Amino acid sequence: MPKQHMLVTGGSGYLGGWVVRLARANWRVSATFLTRPVDPDVNGERGVNWRWLDVRDAAAVDALMADVHPDVVVHTAASNPGEDADFAATNVDGTRHVARAARGIGARLIHISTDVIFDGEKGSYVEENLPQPITPYGRSKALAEEEVRASEAEAVIVRTSLIYGWRPRIDRHTSWVVEGLRAGNPPHLFTDELRCPMWVESLAAAVVELAGTTYTGVPSILQRRHSDGALHVAGAQSLSRYQFGVRLARFHGVDPGPIVPARSRESGLVRPLDCTLDCSRARALLRTPLPGVDEVLGQHTP
Ligand SMILES: NC(=O)c1ccc[n+]([C@@H]2O[C@H](COP(=O)([O-])OP(=O)(O)OC[C@H]3O[C@@H](n4cnc5c(N)ncnc54)[C@H](OP(=O)(O)O)[C@@H]3O)[C@@H](O)[C@H]2O)c1
Repeated sequence: MPKQHMLVTGGSGYLGGWVVRLARANWRVSATFLTRPVDPDVNGERGVNWRWLDVRDAAAVDALMADVHPDVVVHTAASNPGEDADFAATNVDGTRHVARAARGIGARLIHISTDVIFDGEKGSYVEENLPQPITPYGRSKALAEEEVRASEAEAVIVRTSLIYGWRPRIDRHTSWVVEGLRAGNPPHLFTDELRCPMWVESLAAAVVELAGTTYTGVPSILQRRHSDGALHVAGAQSLSRYQFGVRLARFHGVDPGPIVPARSRESGLVRPLDCTLDCSRARALLRTPLPGVDEVLGQHTP
């Protein structure tokens, strides 16, 4: 049987790169970049149909979708960090363009969302909990979810947490922690912001597995709801940003001692505190394990 065709938006990104790498075994893969063209000889993405795409341009999205005609679209492209205007144009409008175009050609859509669509007041969020974002990025990703639902594409909305890894490069957040320590400029990390950090390689494997199913997340019987299509896919271990940073530093062979513990609640910043996700539904659905930080770091070397 011929392989099905997957289009990965943001294939040049951290998660997108891993989705591309893992999907290649069983899928024909097309992937997009915006500012960072991918050298197929460097990270083994040979055989991938690399295309330039700006998701802010609806006509360009439609044209690419018509040309590539994928069976599944994995939409990882997003702006963060960024300004409000980037969030609106890339995360909200861009997702609308991708979701509508996917619906237009009958492609299945896996949309990547985030734990910070929640306000962080409750923790252990299940899919049915109401998104109540309190940051500009969180608001844009919550609106992006609405765009996916409004498109009526066959879609799953994968909500995940802090993404980390060390291959083929260290993720941006870990790099900031480790490089800061090495440079004698230790980071201040919050002890009261809880997350379920997710290893990029497990997340990509879960996404690729989901792409090959017909699962469409939490269904609604009578009317569209905020939870339609959502699936929580994050690591098994809940950690504060401080605890996470200490583990990352040790893993990368750096003394975590100088990391400065700080409290988000007293920082004057508006940030969600406990965004831990209950991933019971994903655990029951997927063969791919969703390990916690200690399990992942304990089994690998950088
Ligand atoms: N990182 C986290 O901790 C985290 C946590 C929860 C959820 N998420 C979500 O997970 C997804 C992947 O995150 P990531 O950290 O892997 O992202 P990333 O490394 O920052 O990569 C972002 C990707 O989006 C592309 N992109 C940005 N603006 C674009 C535009 N206007 N048009 C087309 N492509 C555009 C970038 O292309 P170029 O690089 O070529 O410019 C890059 O490929 C995102 O949807 C994010 O919201 C991330």
